Amino acid sequence: MTFQLPKLPYALDALEPTISADTLREHHGAHHKSYIEKTNKLQQESDLTDASLETLVQRADGALLQNAAQAWNHSFYWESMTPGDASEPGAELRTAIDATFGDLKALRELFLERAGSHFGSGWAWLVREKDGRLSVECTHDAGCPLRDGKTPLLVCDLWEHAYYLDHQHDRGAYLEGFWSLIDWARVDQRFAAASTVSDASSQPRTHGAPPTIPVSRTRSASLIGAALLGGLLTLGGCGDDSAENAGKHVDDFAEDVEDAAEDVADEAEDLIDDHDGN
Ligand SMILES: [Fe+2]
Repeated sequence: MTFQLPKLPYALDALEPTISADTLREHHGAHHKSYIEKTNKLQQESDLTDASLETLVQRADGALLQNAAQAWNHSFYWESMTPGDASEPGAELRTAIDATFGDLKALRELFLERAGSHFGSGWAWLVREKDGRLSVECTHDAGCPLRDGKTPLLVCDLWEHAYYLDHQHDRGAYLEGFWSLIDWARVDQRFAAASTVSDASSQPRTHGAPPTIPVSRTRSASLIGAALLGGLLTLGGCGDDSAENAGKHVDDFAEDVEDAAEDVADEAEDLIDDHDGN
């Protein structure tokens, strides 16, 4: 699988003055491009040659993981922003934000505080946790919440290459500008998609076809069942027999069970042979 550098969803100068065309040209055209190219090279040298970018983030290690995560994070970052007037979260996301943080203002303060105080390079995220709660977290370097089974909803790049040309060391000014560029319509879509998947997976399995039991297993079960039933019927008829006859019935029953067990063992060997043959 060969990954391509995605096109920006807006013009190079569309996010000015917070993010200049020079920053975006270098950030997208050099940094992001480099992560994509390194991911392609390293993937060919790995045992995950057909894996998607998301799968690489979840399963790869070392340099391949770092470059794949940086490639994924940057694509997600470009699509977390939009030019134009500031928007706000939709009703469903707003309800979740209010329930978790109090209100949007409190989320903003928390996000900017965490992102502003994060030491070194990394990313600031709004995520949906596995239990459905929202949270704000920062990851170091190439860290990505996908790795931990969480659902990213929003991200801000905290690497200096994201803001140094425009704001030098003033990360706070960059973060203030970033907040006004958030594409809340996109965040709404991500939140709705995550909620739909979660709702579907939490539904009790009361519909649909029952699981299919392989024919060989039903046959084995039938053999054992027949042996047991036959034995019970035989033993049940012992009431009028002598102790000697009763003992013979028990022996016959034991032989039937042993025969059934041998049949099951033979079937198991056949299954193993079939599997090895495939
Ligand atoms: Fe970056």
